[in-house]
Amino acid sequence: MTTLTAPLSIERIAKSRISEVDFQHLEFGKFIADHMAIASYANDRWGEPKIVPYGDLQMSPAMLALHYGQAIFEGMKAFKMNDGSINIFRPHKHYERLRKSLDRMCMPDIPEDMFIQSLHTLIHLDRAWVPDSEGSSLYIRPVVFASESRLGVKVSDQYLFIIMNTPVGAYLNKPYRLKVEDIYVRTAEGGTGFAKCAGNYGGAFYPTQLAKQQGYDQVLWTDHKDHQYIDEVGMMNVMLMIEGKLVTPKLNSAILDGVTRDSILILAKEMGIETVERRISVDELADGLKSGKITEMFGAGTAAVVAPIALINIHGKDIQIPVAGAQSFQQKVKQKLLGIRMGVLPDVHGWNYIIK
Ligand code: COI
Repeated sequence: MTTLTAPLSIERIAKSRISEVDFQHLEFGKFIADHMAIASYANDRWGEPKIVPYGDLQMSPAMLALHYGQAIFEGMKAFKMNDGSINIFRPHKHYERLRKSLDRMCMPDIPEDMFIQSLHTLIHLDRAWVPDSEGSSLYIRPVVFASESRLGVKVSDQYLFIIMNTPVGAYLNKPYRLKVEDIYVRTAEGGTGFAKCAGNYGGAFYPTQLAKQQGYDQVLWTDHKDHQYIDEVGMMNVMLMIEGKLVTPKLNSAILDGVTRDSILILAKEMGIETVERRISVDELADGLKSGKITEMFGAGTAAVVAPIALINIHGKDIQIPVAGAQSFQQKVKQKLLGIRMGVLPDVHGWNYIIK
């Protein structure tokens, strides 16, 4: 691990744009906070990261990321704690995943201290952008992409690393309506599904648009071979309560290793609930919902947090999911997560990265 020699240089914005934001009605990604962290990679090394006003970049139309898709990102959140401190949730865990994504896409590793110091300096500077109403947060978006200008099909020699932030409210209040996908695939085992690379999302838009035209919010992706086993929702992992046990698809190279998924599995065990990571077939899902063995189904993701699922379409048939009341596991674990993030419950796992 390298150590940055000096604090990051900061170029401040002339006039903050924060007064343009309606913090009561936050829309995901609509407003980007005043500053961004930026570092460039060339000649086999990262330059010193710096903080600059958020703004447009100059780029070449031949920039490699545009043509061959070397682009990855992360999604984290910072919360305003009850004592006014700012808490970035599990940044080291997100960093580990960022490294895996970089590696899969043949992109250069980012030193941990460069990542953490850029993040810390940026969030401290833009701390006024962290909203404080319940369920709201500052969504942090690190992105790395190939910036070399060259049309040849090759691994880029130049990259940009940027962190930008957007204040967000509760991601979606309405429970999701999902459609089990049995034609298209998001990825395949051995592909890039476990990495947070831009192409995973771009390729998912078309089937998702089709599902939206049919009245659903998202698709539930299934295995690429015979669409028999469920993977994830693309924007979030999926979890089920089956006969009192928390069951979720076992990670493989087609499924993103969600930080919220991981946190919920840990909290469930502490709550005395058995957790099972295994393959879950579409048939088991349909039968379990019909028989009542499955009592809850919800999504887990950084943006979505814990997202109730109201309905699932399986092979053309809509099946209702039981409504999650205040005593449901998903509501209880959501409150627990919130309590830890806000500093109301003890942070026994050291998940909170607190900026005073
Ligand atoms: C996240 O939950 O952080 C995601 O990346 C999902 C989506 C907003 C792209």
